[in-house]
Amino acid sequence: MNAATPLNLAPLLDVQGVNKSFRKPDGDELVVLENVNLTLRPGEIVGLLGRSGSGKSTLLRSIAGLDPPTGGVVSYLGHPVLAPAAGIAMVFQSFALFPWLTVLENVQVGLEALGTPEAEMRARAIKAIDLIGLDGFESAYPRELSGGMRQRVGFARALVVHPNILLMDEPFSALDILTAETLRTDFLELWGEGQLPIKAVLLVTHNIEEAVQMCDRLLIFSTHPGRVVSEIPIDLPHPRHTQDPRFRALIDRVYVEMTARPRGEARPGVKGERFPGTGIGTVLNHVSSTILTGLIETVNEPPYLGKADLPAIAEEQHLEVDDLFPAAEALQLLRFAEVEGGDMRLTEAGSQFARGDIDERKKLFARHLITYVPLAAHIRRVLDERASHTAPKSRFFDELEDYMAEDAAEQTLRTIISWGRYAEVFAYDDNRQAFSLENPV
Ligand SMILES: Nc1ncnc2c1ncn2[C@@H]1O[C@H](COP(=O)(O)OP(=O)(O)OP(=O)(O)O)[C@@H](O)[C@H]1O
Ligand SMILES: [Mg+2]
Repeated sequence: MNAATPLNLAPLLDVQGVNKSFRKPDGDELVVLENVNLTLRPGEIVGLLGRSGSGKSTLLRSIAGLDPPTGGVVSYLGHPVLAPAAGIAMVFQSFALFPWLTVLENVQVGLEALGTPEAEMRARAIKAIDLIGLDGFESAYPRELSGGMRQRVGFARALVVHPNILLMDEPFSALDILTAETLRTDFLELWGEGQLPIKAVLLVTHNIEEAVQMCDRLLIFSTHPGRVVSEIPIDLPHPRHTQDPRFRALIDRVYVEMTARPRGEARPGVKGERFPGTGIGTVLNHVSSTILTGLIETVNEPPYLGKADLPAIAEEQHLEVDDLFPAAEALQLLRFAEVEGGDMRLTEAGSQFARGDIDERKKLFARHLITYVPLAAHIRRVLDERASHTAPKSRFFDELEDYMAEDAAEQTLRTIISWGRYAEVFAYDDNRQAFSLENPV
């Protein structure tokens, strides 16, 4: 929280009931955002945490006035945002800086659209460049800068317009770990000292540590469709230390919220409902059998011995949330693990898999694949029934498209192909784009 600002102020930004759908090529609707509500008040850094594809960038574009929502209202200072607003600026994951312009000229670009007089433009750009730590590089060209410095130019370009609201879409994720850390710390220091010409920040990220380090409040975003499902206040004083037990406790809490199933879905602990329900139309995240195998082995071994805290695994295995969560979900789907309260616990079958040799593992995986993943059973049944024992991929693709978007269908098939091959439940020929029973027994 920026020290200069009290909290009981009217919101700068008020997002009410925002929906966003896209029309798919086949005419169907893809609902990306559904009833999104959020507010941003002066002095706040609010984090929006969600997985890849949950609609975070789509929401930011709607807020920035770049792509209007299908329903609901985005209000800035009490007025609906229908086009890019002067008081809202955006920092992207990486900046397309103009290679033929100097740092100074690249930053001035932010002001040109506003019709600022030349002298003032130059003075403000120089000030923004100094502020963000690029003093002395005004006449450098982008190619002469490191990735971190280029991103600083991106920040300076957004700050030069003195926006009330800064929207940041994963601004640190394209940088290496140390550079990202330095830029984050610098940003927080300037923010804490009240030196930034902005009033509030909405930060999109899928880095949980970054979110807990930077934000006053976190909003957890669900996927398919994207919606704010919970809110976590972060009231630790700055600077925050990642090893502080209170920091770790907040990280744990975020994991719990992010792995909790939305209300209305099967809840863990209820007999017969311990695992996510599925049908042929379930989107399968792409997780290779190597990652699944590795994760089962890790959880089975000391120090975990069958039960592990997800944040601990993420740290130890250097896994990003976008790799770990889909893998944890796949293991649940296959009944090799259960996830509850931010912990992953191997099932009896999971432990058996960990102990087995290659052959035993394949057999167990095949049995679970056919039993618990309806799409795998369906493909196998079709292949068994056909005299040729082959079927083109398009046959299943068309079927899946009744349930999901084209890219999700593509990904689901890619996943089932890799699992089916590993388990030798069916084969797939990449050249002919066809499933068959050539190798399986
Ligand atoms: N212009 C568009 N037309 C059709 N579909 C779109 C369009 N823009 C986004 N989508 C779809 O909306 C969904 C959400 O995309 P979005 O980029 O907002 O996700 P995200 O949460 O920012 O993901 P990431 O973490 O990977 O950046 C995706 O399924 C994407 O394919
Ligand atoms: Mg995005």
